[in-house]
Amino acid sequence: MSGPNTSYDPVEVAALDPAAIEAAVAAALAAADAAPDLAALKAARTAHQGDRSALALANREIGALPPSAKAEAGQRVGQARARVAQAFTARQGILEAERDERILVEEAVDVTLPTGRRPLGRRHPTELMAERIADVFVGLGWELAEGPEVEAEWFNFDALNFDADHPARQMQDTFYVEPPESGLILRTHTSPVQARALLERGVPLYIACLGRVFRTDELDATHMPAFHQVEGLAVDEGITMAHLKGTLDRLATELFGQGITTRLRPSYFPFTEPSAEMDLRCFVCRGSDSACRTCKGTGWIEWGGCGMVNENVLRACGVDPQRYSGFAFGMGIDRALMFRTGVSDMRDMIEGDVRFTAQFGMEI
Ligand code: DAH
Repeated sequence: MSGPNTSYDPVEVAALDPAAIEAAVAAALAAADAAPDLAALKAARTAHQGDRSALALANREIGALPPSAKAEAGQRVGQARARVAQAFTARQGILEAERDERILVEEAVDVTLPTGRRPLGRRHPTELMAERIADVFVGLGWELAEGPEVEAEWFNFDALNFDADHPARQMQDTFYVEPPESGLILRTHTSPVQARALLERGVPLYIACLGRVFRTDELDATHMPAFHQVEGLAVDEGITMAHLKGTLDRLATELFGQGITTRLRPSYFPFTEPSAEMDLRCFVCRGSDSACRTCKGTGWIEWGGCGMVNENVLRACGVDPQRYSGFAFGMGIDRALMFRTGVSDMRDMIEGDVRFTAQFGMEI
């Protein structure tokens, strides 16, 4: 049996030869220094620090040395590996800093460059208002109806019980279409759609009509030669003025909020009997401020006309007034928009300034 290998000299083990270790360290340091980027550094690391590197091999050889030789060889190898590790860490730091700097430059965003984006368009506030009103009636189960803007005088006036010499027919109110005997005009209100719908659809009938109407008014802060109305018509058995009031209150609440109702004042329209003017509860002061600028202290704002459909209109449209009754109303959409937005000059609504549309043409 042979004794311990006391004469084992680490110098004689090739991997532990100080010169070989020094050479391995030098090669590792050179590789670390030469690595141009992080990927190359990683590869160099594997070659010089990995399991198969010269220094890892030397480290493994230490285990086979006699105890007396282990300490010195261990120190030498340990120091060598520490120097290599330090060199790689240092190089890694340098390369990372370089990379970060390069990314900052390469990926920098110049926030001052002009963009290619165009501002988004907006829908016109009047159209949105009309849609909102239409939604209320559709929600009540009503149908939407339409009629032509170039309308037969008969629908616009005669069917609605206007006398032949009614002042509204006069040139100063109505746009007549050439030639004069064409019998055509630009509709002065949406009420002719009442007659059209009664003739086309019959009764019972619940319709709302939203559209453009025309009058020979000069354009100023409160008048436009072309503006918008919403017309409502309900004809059925047993319809009373209470249904009219309930419907108007519902519309007012939907558009202007809880507690905003309507008031009826006696009035006259050829196509309704009885007729009423409809006022809206002031949505600013709700009737509690005698100095309110919106309602001028009255607590009410004029909004439109309404009433029970005149029997002559029902008869002209082939509906039996003994069996059916109805209510109708008409009001300005542009006025409703003025109320809601606080815009006091109607010209703002039609001048086409995109800033107006951008401010009011979007609803959330
Ligand atoms: N057409 C009327 C106008 O333009 C408004 C109106 C009043 C409509 C009474 C109606 C109504 O349906 O019943 O001034």
